Amino acid sequence: MRRALIAGNWKMYKTTSEAVALASEIKKGAAGAPSDVLIAPPFTALAPVVSVLEGTSIAVAAQNMHFEKEGAFTGEVSAPMLKDLKVANVILGHSERRQYFAETDEGVARKTKAALDNEIMPISCVGETLAERESGKTMDVIGRQVNTILKALTIAESTRIVIAYEPVWAIGTGKVATPEQAQEVHAFIRQCIAKFHGAQVADALRILYGGSVKPDNVKGLMSQTDIDGALVGGASLKADSFLNLVHYDKQ
Ligand code: 13P
Repeated sequence: MRRALIAGNWKMYKTTSEAVALASEIKKGAAGAPSDVLIAPPFTALAPVVSVLEGTSIAVAAQNMHFEKEGAFTGEVSAPMLKDLKVANVILGHSERRQYFAETDEGVARKTKAALDNEIMPISCVGETLAERESGKTMDVIGRQVNTILKALTIAESTRIVIAYEPVWAIGTGKVATPEQAQEVHAFIRQCIAKFHGAQVADALRILYGGSVKPDNVKGLMSQTDIDGALVGGASLKADSFLNLVHYDKQ
């Protein structure tokens, strides 16, 4: 059985004091959640948020990371630096990083491997653009993105990752994929994993859906066989809407 995961990606929102206030509210409201809960504040708020959540089961993630341990890479942050802050998770290859910061499939694969080498759980993101979907290329694109990541990993390593399917056309647009559209791609991703690393790994690995997840659509998405959770942007920035997602069974 895969345990569900509801993850909030705060993107470039929240000063440190705002982040501490939001994390404190989430901490109060998340008790009794039917899923694992994770939040990903900006780098500047990681340490204070870790300290707010100490002793709880709410996990903290960074939103990006470099693949080298250290070096002359101005502006970058490494896995050992995250570990040092007790940040044990990282979102990698988000479509905004691919689109605005020129991240490639190979770079995302390399970062995924680097995170695992440092005992950080990667949430590695894939997703097609609207043009790719409309020209019938969705499965080609997703297959290429997923396989590039899997190729970099051993079977044992693959059991320690989370994949997030975030169709680019659904991010921040209010245009959510239907549960059936999302399920179709999630099932395809699971097939890719099964082909590459076997059914056991494929069955155990969590695949999150992201893109305009809100309290009023979460239940339909979560009821799909291959959807194991959500990676949430906009609705994770306010305690009430995020907590409604965390308690998706009550929606
Ligand atoms: P929205 O929930 O705002 O569409 O963002 C999704 C996302 O990009 C999460 O990583």
